[in-house]
Amino acid sequence: MKRKKTKLKIKKKSIIVSVVILLIVIIITLLVGPLKLYFKGYSFKSSFEIAFNGTKSIVLDKDYSETLDNMIIDGKYDKNYLSEYFEIDYYDRENFTNNTSNMLRLRYDTEVINKINKKNDNEINKIASTAYYENLKAYLEYDYFKPELFERYEAYNKGDIKDTLIKVNIGLDKPFYKDPNTISKYSTTMLVNTYNKLDESFTPELVKMDKCSEGENYLSKEAKEAFDKLCDASLKDGMKIGTTSSYRSYKEQQNVYNYYLKVNGQDYVNKYVAKPGFSEHQTGLALDVKSVYSSPFKNTKEYIWMINNAYKYGFILRYPENTKNITGYNSEVWHFRYVGIDAATYIQKNKITYDEYCAIFM
Ligand code: DAL
Ligand code: ZN
Repeated sequence: MKRKKTKLKIKKKSIIVSVVILLIVIIITLLVGPLKLYFKGYSFKSSFEIAFNGTKSIVLDKDYSETLDNMIIDGKYDKNYLSEYFEIDYYDRENFTNNTSNMLRLRYDTEVINKINKKNDNEINKIASTAYYENLKAYLEYDYFKPELFERYEAYNKGDIKDTLIKVNIGLDKPFYKDPNTISKYSTTMLVNTYNKLDESFTPELVKMDKCSEGENYLSKEAKEAFDKLCDASLKDGMKIGTTSSYRSYKEQQNVYNYYLKVNGQDYVNKYVAKPGFSEHQTGLALDVKSVYSSPFKNTKEYIWMINNAYKYGFILRYPENTKNITGYNSEVWHFRYVGIDAATYIQKNKITYDEYCAIFM
């Protein structure tokens, strides 16, 4: 009787031991998947999620994906986009997972998403919430694509993507003088045109001109120094260049505008004179030149010299022929603008206006 009892006890014990062993084996087996994922780099949460959602072997076959890991951590994971997560580069940014999830839902392909993610936060937030457009991919080929102007590109686009981006970046989808930005910081590359204006109080630091100039003419320091070099070189080449106008304050521009309006009429000022605040002359970076002995300027050797050499000193012809649709003004053969040698050289070589240059590079 006692032996039977002992036998039963041993049997019970061995059953318990077997169950425990079995449980341990099961637990270990269950933990192998998550542990493998964990040691691959995934967080605990992601490791367990992946181990039991049926994608373990796919994920283990690939390198660690920080994008996948963070999508799971942030609760943005969608099994349908598993392969996409591996193609999307991770950026440590507040809205990364939310925006990525939106963009995938909107059918952006991963190549496009990677390009978008290279842009700054505001731009990404904007794009990530826009519906998918076929043109977006084409726009992203250009560094000067500005996501915040997306709808305006779409409205303007007549088939030429590059032209669309440049024109809309300038502002040409809107009428001249409409909703101008106010520029308050002086720089040698500052853009003042019909879309970018200066306040009445804007005054650059001015230096009096003493070469190729008579009377009271002022330019900003950088423009003056560059013009001195231009002047020296022109004299060496036997030219006689003079200055008819240089820095003009807001008030002076107003006087110029009113004078020409009175004498030559509205049509004339529309073509040749900027409204006060919209003139480059107020920057101290622009000047009007002449040939000292001969006119009209267009027919002089000084004009030819300027056209071929001014860029070497950082000056460009600001209102070339046939660019009124871009600059807003008729051709002005006398008006030159200092932009620095690099910009001037690019503009000379590519035969573009300064407005287009800024639309591409700024
Ligand atoms: N003539 C140019 C456009 C100006 O007035 O600034
Ligand atoms: Zn001028």
